[in-house]
Amino acid sequence: MKKLIVGNLKMNMENVSQRDAYCAEMRDACAHIKTEHTLILCPPVIYTEYFCRTLENTSFRIGAQDCFWEMYGSYTGNTSPKAIYSLGGRYVILGHSERRTYNHESNDDIVQKTKTAIRAQLTPIVCVGFLSYDDEMHSVQEQVGVLLKQLSHEEIEKVIIAYEPVWAIGSGKTPTSDDIHTMVMYIRSMIVQVCGKDIAARVPILYGGSVNAGNITETCVDSYADGVLVGTTSLSPEKFAAMVRAIS
Ligand code: PGA
Repeated sequence: MKKLIVGNLKMNMENVSQRDAYCAEMRDACAHIKTEHTLILCPPVIYTEYFCRTLENTSFRIGAQDCFWEMYGSYTGNTSPKAIYSLGGRYVILGHSERRTYNHESNDDIVQKTKTAIRAQLTPIVCVGFLSYDDEMHSVQEQVGVLLKQLSHEEIEKVIIAYEPVWAIGSGKTPTSDDIHTMVMYIRSMIVQVCGKDIAARVPILYGGSVNAGNITETCVDSYADGVLVGTTSLSPEKFAAMVRAIS
């Protein structure tokens, strides 16, 4: 089964030498991997054009880690989804738990960003998760519920959902494949209820949180997730390549 493997590079590579070295190593590390999977890298937005240019003619596609809910205007410091598209980006991560926490993003902000990203022809990767085991269903229900209420069926069809339990992000801990499977099925059943089976079947649902070469089979294949969102492992081209190889 074809999977989506998304690398979230977060706010790393603080200078151009590190950026250049990363892209060169990633090109080399992945040059000989034959994979049916879709590989997406989301660097800091300022590096979008460089990543698109240097990783052209490889299997990588490029995305961003956030965008604004308006296309243009007096919004100092924000990034237009159209600008990301024009630089070559085709995806955008939205509603990551780090942005919900440090930038106080609300569900409504994320819905507006999702709609604008779609209008700019970007594919949004919308993150949903939970804070503890106790409220996992509740958080996912609320966050997916808001999307289903405010997006049209046509918009839902263009979204990728990433289920990321907050406690698993960067912690080295992962849920069991059964637990991931349960949440993937739960999210899909919510979409079925609102949009019907056909649309629900077309929405990729990813798992994210401490994925690496050692657990990708369990977290991505055994769990029947449609792919993974990967932070720490994607910072090392060698480890990223080993992870892709493990399921290729
Ligand atoms: P991690 O990060 O792989 O380091 O847990 C995942 C994420 O934040 O998307």
